Amino acid sequence: MTDITFSAWLRDTLQGHGELPRDLLNTLEYTARACQEISANLARGALAGVLGQAGSDNVQGEAQKKLDVIANDILLQTHANGSYLASMASEEMDDPWPVENSIGRYLLVFDPLDGSSNIDINAPVGTIFSVLTLPEGASPDSHDAFLQAGSCQAAAGYALYGASTQLVLTLGFGVYVFTLDPRSQHFILTQSKLTIPTDTSEFAINMSNQRFWEPAVQRYIDELLAGREGPRERDFNMRWVAAMVADVHRILCRGGVFLYPLDSKTAAKGGKLRLLYEANPMGWLVQQAGGLVSTGRENILSIEPTGLHQRVPVILGAKHEVERLERYHREMN
Ligand code: F6P
Repeated sequence: MTDITFSAWLRDTLQGHGELPRDLLNTLEYTARACQEISANLARGALAGVLGQAGSDNVQGEAQKKLDVIANDILLQTHANGSYLASMASEEMDDPWPVENSIGRYLLVFDPLDGSSNIDINAPVGTIFSVLTLPEGASPDSHDAFLQAGSCQAAAGYALYGASTQLVLTLGFGVYVFTLDPRSQHFILTQSKLTIPTDTSEFAINMSNQRFWEPAVQRYIDELLAGREGPRERDFNMRWVAAMVADVHRILCRGGVFLYPLDSKTAAKGGKLRLLYEANPMGWLVQQAGGLVSTGRENILSIEPTGLHQRVPVILGAKHEVERLERYHREMN
């Protein structure tokens, strides 16, 4: 069987779903190119002198790593001359970055390097992105243009820089995985229509926050930890890579439930993870694979954003586990 490259898949396979607007196609093609370049920088790591701190803070007051800044610049510069994109926004920038002289109608919002605390230990990191449409009459340099519910996304995806580099994408008809062939430097289609099983025995959460969680999550995790002897009557396993990209990728590939719930440390900010460039794109991918995505109280994809860098609690993955967590939130909070 001949390999299907990402470009060929975009152009040919998609014809069955109506012709993809050229601007959207270009946005995705160039985003894939940027991810290839980020992957190359990560692969050279210490050899390229790109590890360590940048010596600056981002808009959220978090210390930036050199690679956060490099990845952000690669995405901006790759799209800088494209007339297909109206504007970009990123975790690493306070304000949107309109593309000069562009007549494009798409917006790209991204976390250039998710899980960046993993960079210096050579563990998985990723790039998360979401494509929105510029609303009629909106200015590409306004925050408002980007404040759209996750259900409005035109495309969502991520690149995972792990043992291999993979690009995972949805356009609203399933989730597709492309693996970067280091020899040809093409992303090749390797998995189609990922499905998350409705039940699971695997969960992902930062257990060190246990004492800060709300009662509903305390109860849920206590029950999982009680295992065979507890109310769930079976043992559960825990995994935590500490890069959302990698933890969600595992769930898309073999199932599970992921939680970064509300806790008393982050409650004042609304949660830990960012709505527009973490929760929404990952949430749509999970939903497209048959899973659910929730704050515990509502579907994340229906939240009307109020800020570019807004944060939310995130619970996603196996349908029956997310439903159970929503029930515990109703009963206990
Ligand atoms: O962007 C935030 C992030 O790095 C996510 O990728 C990850 O899930 C989470 O933070 C890790 O948080 P913690 O440091 O609490 O393990």
